[in-house]
Amino acid sequence: MSSEEATAQQSQSLVGLLAALESIGPAAQEAIAQAADAKALEDLRIEYLGKKGKLSELNQRMGALDAREKPIAGKALNLNKNAITDLLRQRQESLSARELDARLATEAVDVTLPGIRPQRGALHPIALMTREITSIFRSMGFQVESGPEIETEYMNFDSLNIPREHPARDMQDSLFVDRGYVLRTHTSPTQIRTYLKMKPPFAVITTGKVYRHDSDATHSPMFHQMEGFAVGEDISFGHLKNVLYEFLRALYGKDVKVQFRPSFFPFTEPSAEVDVWSEARGCWLEVLGSGMIHPNVLRNGGIDPEKYSGFAFGLGIDRLAMLKYGISDLRLLFENDLRFLRQF
Ligand code: DAH
Repeated sequence: MSSEEATAQQSQSLVGLLAALESIGPAAQEAIAQAADAKALEDLRIEYLGKKGKLSELNQRMGALDAREKPIAGKALNLNKNAITDLLRQRQESLSARELDARLATEAVDVTLPGIRPQRGALHPIALMTREITSIFRSMGFQVESGPEIETEYMNFDSLNIPREHPARDMQDSLFVDRGYVLRTHTSPTQIRTYLKMKPPFAVITTGKVYRHDSDATHSPMFHQMEGFAVGEDISFGHLKNVLYEFLRALYGKDVKVQFRPSFFPFTEPSAEVDVWSEARGCWLEVLGSGMIHPNVLRNGGIDPEKYSGFAFGLGIDRLAMLKYGISDLRLLFENDLRFLRQF
């Protein structure tokens, strides 16, 4: 038998297979012990246990063995396979532990460092003012209603006794949306909407955005108004004065100085403007318009002016907020600069 024939024969034999296994074991052990990371371990797993790995190769050689030898070879192969699997797992565990130690050492968290404060929002000064006004009137028994910002020309003007030639209708003041529709120029049309759906007696306030073609330090094309009105039998100017005094005391303190000044509005008769004394500026500041609801307005709302009377008043919320918080430029309220807003 030539030596080549001998090797060929041996590679087919049980002895040859066992010998090959014997050299694989220590080699695998050595390589696994030296694997530096998970990637190297995975390569070794493929090299030894993979479908085309060293053990599979030997497994295929089992086919040439006879029936008596097969179980012996199979057992030896399995023992090796399990041993290598165990070695791989152990190495993997010790690598992970070492990695964790290394991470813990470098990524140490200093729990005594000050935290990062979450940013908190706050109510806008207009919202604060609206809430304060609303709660004062609620405490006096007024209920809250609302109206649309796009109004019919009829509701915004005609129904409120504002004649066609009134300057408020001028294209320069009003923002028309479409024929017959305007962005409401005041909250007064909510009076008519309420009259048409409620039966006196009632006391109502409404707040919201209004629009005018106007823009400078004290005027904005969009601003906020509040409208109040009360209708019932025997409602008098005395009731109006009392309600407004109480309101201004609640808002500016009980020592507030208030004056009623005769004025004109198409929807009230008689009408008065109300001023508050400003100690800081040494002058009277106009804060609202008011009056007894004009009989035509009641009639347009389906209320009989022979039977019922009422008072109404309107004020600018932005203006009140400027006075209360000492804001000099109205535009600050609409720029949403956080440095400004954070002060409230
Ligand atoms: N609607 C008026 C305006 O926008 C404000 C106003 C004045 C409302 C007198 C009233 C009132 O109810 O009686 O300038």
